[in-house]
Amino acid sequence: MKDTLSQIVYHRSIGNDYYRIGLKTGWASFQPGQFAMLQVPGDGGVLLRRPFSLARQEGEVSEILYKAVGRGTRNLVKLQPGVPLKILGPLGHGFSSSEVSGPRVAVAGGYGIAPFWEWSLQLAKLGHRLQIFYGARTKTDLLYLDELRDAGAEVQCSTEDGSAGFRGLVTDLLREQFPNGKVGRVYSCGPWGLLQAVGQWCESHSIPAELSVEEAMGCGTGVCLGCVVQNRAGKYFRACKEGPVFLAEQLKLN
Ligand SMILES: Cc1cc2nc3c(=O)[nH]c(=O)nc-3n(C[C@H](O)[C@H](O)[C@H](O)COP(=O)(O)OP(=O)(O)OC[C@H]3O[C@@H](n4cnc5c(N)ncnc54)[C@H](O)[C@@H]3O)c2cc1C
Ligand code: FES
Repeated sequence: MKDTLSQIVYHRSIGNDYYRIGLKTGWASFQPGQFAMLQVPGDGGVLLRRPFSLARQEGEVSEILYKAVGRGTRNLVKLQPGVPLKILGPLGHGFSSSEVSGPRVAVAGGYGIAPFWEWSLQLAKLGHRLQIFYGARTKTDLLYLDELRDAGAEVQCSTEDGSAGFRGLVTDLLREQFPNGKVGRVYSCGPWGLLQAVGQWCESHSIPAELSVEEAMGCGTGVCLGCVVQNRAGKYFRACKEGPVFLAEQLKLN
């Protein structure tokens, strides 16, 4: 983990309030699922850094995929290449590369697709193909499709309005594709409702699952306790330190 004064190398809109930002961090690599705390411009009283998944490391440049949703990210949108930004990372625990018998399946919702670009590339280097099930509200919320396919992943999409791929929820697509639950391991990132549904489906078929939670965070380093999630024994984990990727069996899913 390093606190780095990075520089924006590129920053572009990809439509629908989504942006790709490349930062010269000089970092060597990261484990997909790890995140970084990025400085956002301070006007309007935004002081804290914001957490974002790391999507890709190419040479010295780290990419983040983000959606402009509030004060911090809307301020971020205005920044041009060349601007310096502090970034702390890589933080937390990412997906594990443990041995798996059976297909490796990723289930993503919205910008939860971000870690699966680098994960597809890293698994491909090890000779494994990631099968990605990617759900969004509508076609324009489906991101990184070319990048994922170029990285060697097989991608199946669903949209709630039927504008691309399967019409309905991504978990319905998953159930349809694997009616007997013959999957080696599942990795998932997205909204809590998606993680719950994925975790419960995996549990019903005894499939090991790793879920990346997106709790709001203050410090990102385990100090403020602003990001706790409850485990099954009623105890608490810090999402930033013990996570953000947890085994499904560690989390209270309902
Ligand atoms: C580990 C982790 C990884 C993340 N990865 C990404 C990513 O790759 N791309 C991306 O766009 N966003 C990601 N997020 C969410 C991102 O941190 C928030 O969208 C961002 O902090 C919002 O900041 P803001 O100042 O613009 O919004 P705020 O003004 O702080 O809030 C605006 C709205 O965003 C909601 N919001 C705030 N924090 C979160 C959060 N953690 N999750 C969901 N909604 C939130 C608030 O409830 C509110 O409705 C991640 C969060 C975590 C914890
Ligand atoms: S964000 Fe501060 S302890 Fe996790």
